[in-house]
Amino acid sequence: MCGIAGYIGPRTGKDLRDLLIDELLGRVEYRGYDSAGVAFVDGANLSVVRAAGKVKELGGAIGDREIGTPFIAHTRWATHGPANEANAHPQTSCRGHVAVVHNGVIDNWKALRKALERRNHVFRSETDTEVLAHLIGEYLNGDPLEAVRSALSEVEGTFGIAVLFQDYPDLIVVARRGSSISIGLGDGELFVASDPRSFRSFTDRHVVLEDDQIAVVKLGQEELLIQDIDQVPVSVKVEQIELTVDEIEKGNHDTYMGKEICQQPDSLAQTLGGRITADGRVKLGGLEDHLDALRLAQYIILTAAGTSFYASMVGEILFQEVSGLPARAMNASELAGQKHPVFPEQTLAWALSQSGVTTDTLCAMKILAEMQIPTFGICNAVGQDIARTTQAGVYCRAGVETGVASTKAFTSQVAVLQLVSLYLRQLRGLPWDEGCQRHLSGLQAVPEIVRRIIDQREVIQHIAEPYRFATDFYFLGRGILYPVAMEGALKLKEVSYVHAEGYSMAGMKHGPIALIEPRFPTIVLVPKNDENYAHNLTNVQEIRARGGPVIAIATEGDEEIADLVDDVIFVPKVMYYLMPLVYVIPLQLFAYYIAKKLGRNVDQPRHLAKAVTVG
Ligand code: G6P
Repeated sequence: MCGIAGYIGPRTGKDLRDLLIDELLGRVEYRGYDSAGVAFVDGANLSVVRAAGKVKELGGAIGDREIGTPFIAHTRWATHGPANEANAHPQTSCRGHVAVVHNGVIDNWKALRKALERRNHVFRSETDTEVLAHLIGEYLNGDPLEAVRSALSEVEGTFGIAVLFQDYPDLIVVARRGSSISIGLGDGELFVASDPRSFRSFTDRHVVLEDDQIAVVKLGQEELLIQDIDQVPVSVKVEQIELTVDEIEKGNHDTYMGKEICQQPDSLAQTLGGRITADGRVKLGGLEDHLDALRLAQYIILTAAGTSFYASMVGEILFQEVSGLPARAMNASELAGQKHPVFPEQTLAWALSQSGVTTDTLCAMKILAEMQIPTFGICNAVGQDIARTTQAGVYCRAGVETGVASTKAFTSQVAVLQLVSLYLRQLRGLPWDEGCQRHLSGLQAVPEIVRRIIDQREVIQHIAEPYRFATDFYFLGRGILYPVAMEGALKLKEVSYVHAEGYSMAGMKHGPIALIEPRFPTIVLVPKNDENYAHNLTNVQEIRARGGPVIAIATEGDEEIADLVDDVIFVPKVMYYLMPLVYVIPLQLFAYYIAKKLGRNVDQPRHLAKAVTVG
């Protein structure tokens, strides 16, 4: 949430402008894109250029103007104050001699601002960040690192910051508590970013700041100067950036979302690779040192946000039915918001997250930790906060996901949940019967089944496009497809801005059906081999009887459903537990094509951000 970028090096002119807009800031734009800005050393002064809107608007505002280096830059997802130029970062001190870009939330900003105003500071924005600039400016007295440390000692909340000083024009100070900051080590140049993909095209080496560390980034220094909040020097650990340059490009696709939907046969194969043994068992290396904790578990909590929460709901069913354990999926912000959550003895938790940095999920994990509940992770991004905070876990291996609406990470999370639920079944010594074997071999066949669905994407596009005039949709599913209906509705809302609700197939008649009329389409998930197929058909009839158009996602060869509904998207038959992996694909494509037809920016839908690091 909010992208930070910074640079110190020899580049100048157009090269430097392009580096700022197309690379360093453009690559972290997925983290927020309400406004953008840059501060740079301009002779004896600091100059700031900011613009409301996306990073390319900032490019327009800079125009042919020469920018300087060092610079710090920011792309914002608004929390405090509207997304206008005044609230864009960098924010500056009264004298304009300190500029700050910030990711996170300063909880006590109001109190700090009042105190600063009493000391005659004049504020020009509604942001929490501006207090940091004023505070650092006030403390600045010969040592920029010391000024930042002193200011931060007054701050409650979370931050990843980069600070530029008029009087120290050869350095950037960065600090972190809760919001990631990494420092890229290039060849004669240094980078700063909230995500190393910002500078990955220029270096594959970086240093990741830990919480409560402050660093001075300066060329020509033998080694980076990093200290913790108590002024104790920290030894610098240079890490390899795992990401390849190909992974962060769109390749042959015109959008990241399109690329990531189409990657799913491969991302799923990667998720499963090496985790199913030749003799038909599950092997999860990341869990092997924790077998006792896993064996002892009597109750499972799954917690996550957004799309990851819907994957957790699938996991709830898998843990119950496959592993034989009572399980409950809890929206992370609701878990964190409960006054006194109570869980049984021997509860074990799983936190799911694509980005690994979602604050709501981290807050839920904190509560679980306070209750001494061991928490395992299912994460996609490697080495991020959630993965670091959990006891152990299983990586999704879906590869980098850049489109703000999650697609391939969802299917990989669900695939991991299939593996983990079977793994727990093995560990608990439950019968490993023919059903388990079919489950595993069916899972191995999923990537190819997904490929077949994606190969018929033009058919789905053809079916979807006439529905672009609808202003409301229901998505209905039952059992393991109920969370998939919720996810389908979320996808459509996120990328097309069309109102959509996911609902339980049979629950529909208890209220929501009141809205059905000829302009209100419903998408139903109705696999022929679901034991509730006949009930599902009755529910479809109930919608038809009220004049509602129905699009069915159904099993290949099902003529009965084809006669009953307006449109059908057929998918291959798979066993019940595997249905989420297959039925979600047409829903992703449906949302994608509607949004494209409506002219939406599917990669960066309005008001959203890919990594939500505020609570
Ligand atoms: C944001 C994103 C969603 C995502 C959710 C959880 O809201 O826009 O697409 O599902 O965060 O993110 P996580 O990275 O924890 O899976």
